Amino acid sequence: MNKERKLIIAGNWKMNKTVAEALDLAAGLKLELANVKEVDIVVCPPYTALSEVSKAILDSNIRLGAQNMSEHNVGAYTGEIAAVMLKEFSVRYVILGHSERRQYQQESDALIARKALAVHGAALKPIVCIGETLAEREAGQTEQVLATQVRGSLAGLDKEQMVETVVAYEPVWAIGTGKTASPAQAQEAHAFIRRVLAGMFDETVARKVRIQYGGSVKPANARELMSLPDVDGALVGGAALEARSFTDIIKNSI
Ligand code: PGA
Repeated sequence: MNKERKLIIAGNWKMNKTVAEALDLAAGLKLELANVKEVDIVVCPPYTALSEVSKAILDSNIRLGAQNMSEHNVGAYTGEIAAVMLKEFSVRYVILGHSERRQYQQESDALIARKALAVHGAALKPIVCIGETLAEREAGQTEQVLATQVRGSLAGLDKEQMVETVVAYEPVWAIGTGKTASPAQAQEAHAFIRRVLAGMFDETVARKVRIQYGGSVKPANARELMSLPDVDGALVGGAALEARSFTDIIKNSI
């Protein structure tokens, strides 16, 4: 597939996989994906499996991501994890502001923006998630919601940092529901997000930023979604939990 930007496909394992299960999955992916060079491949296990998965994918083409990170560098923040701790395991990417965290942990755009700055401060790359709910889409508020989230969650980044940031467009109604945005809906949202980025930064930056689609991505729909001009990868939940389906998504996207 001939793309303007290199595809980045990330597996968000969420709160799944014990260390033993994570190692099984990592071993399967390492084997199956060994020859893939066309796509940046990322896996995001839970914190408890980062150490072992990091060792398992050493010397492979698979990069490691975390699912969240503290905005603080050190100190009395019970239950939080700092950038320096992630770096010990060669983590390269950090998912920020996933809709589940926005919903269950009340994460705000302002907090996500502070976390994004902390991620860049540690020379890691954030994957910043945005997306409208079904009620917002049905009320005709999709663009307004996306613009607010893009401006709020990426506030304060400079141009260099923005280029090294991945945006994940994940319509909340498509996450874990089996419902995928239609190609037209996905392309329209991605092109809109890129226009907002051009307004915030400039055209050159906007053209360089990779925007992933997320929400019920499967082997069967990956090719069509990844072929859209403004879709530059995928953030995959359920289908990333098995080596076969995650591998097929990647191979179908090449
Ligand atoms: P899903 O999740 O692929 O299971 O819909 C995507 C995500 O939440 O990142």
